[in-house]
Amino acid sequence: MQEDHPRTPSDEVIAGQAVYNRLVLAGYDQFVLGLSCRLLWRCPKRHMLANYDRNVGARHLEFGTGTGYFLDRCHFPARRPELTLVDLNPTVLRVSAARVARYEPAVVQADVLQPLPFDEGKLKTGHYDSVGANFLLHCLPGGWQEKGEVLANAVAALRPGGRVFGSTILSSGVDVSAPARRLMTVYNARGIFHNTDDDLTGLRWQLDKRFTDIRVTVRGCVALFEATNPAPDPTAAPGG
Ligand SMILES: C[S@@+](CC[C@H](N)C(=O)[O-])C[C@H]1O[C@@H](n2cnc3c(N)ncnc32)[C@H](O)[C@@H]1O
Repeated sequence: MQEDHPRTPSDEVIAGQAVYNRLVLAGYDQFVLGLSCRLLWRCPKRHMLANYDRNVGARHLEFGTGTGYFLDRCHFPARRPELTLVDLNPTVLRVSAARVARYEPAVVQADVLQPLPFDEGKLKTGHYDSVGANFLLHCLPGGWQEKGEVLANAVAALRPGGRVFGSTILSSGVDVSAPARRLMTVYNARGIFHNTDDDLTGLRWQLDKRFTDIRVTVRGCVALFEATNPAPDPTAAPGG
């Protein structure tokens, strides 16, 4: 697969997505979305699916697609939604695109921490009804300022009134059980997670900066979020 994004991601960014090979993806739905979500993160996947069903639009852009489980199961408000998948990992893109092949998705290989290649044809600005970013932010290196670039990409992609939604595993400001804390520590040491500084206040801060109608629901150590891209203020001075 040809890379759609020219900039070379950092070693940490590469490590955060490299773990998702075919073997890991084959067990992902059962072990991560099934067992870990319920027993360790204490947020059963039905809550994430409900978040998709509440927010997914007819023109949907998905960041960090994984196996495509939620895109496969959620209810789009159109029979033939326009679906675009963005991920840095080409295996992930192949697997998730095959799973939702019935929607004929467009695929873009890109690092969501960097400005997305909107000017190169496959991605449009101000176009999408929804952007999904589920279980993505805790995989990305950096603090909230850096992770906020993902939300800035969502703002650029969304039409006014469009919705961003998803979930992320936090390490502070939420209730983390002892076994969850142990696994989080291992994943952070291996570069699979980067969430040692991820707190609820920081997530809310990044959402507040850009969106309205923000709803953040905490279940276990998972924050589920959903928010609206505001329409530009017609009375605002140009450039202001
Ligand atoms: C934990 S999986 C989540 C998959 C799916 N969204 C879900 O909820 O099951 C994280 C996904 O983000 C992708 N990813 C990690 N870092 C990325 C980056 N910097 N840019 C784009 N995708 C990235 C991984 O390849 C993987 O598909």
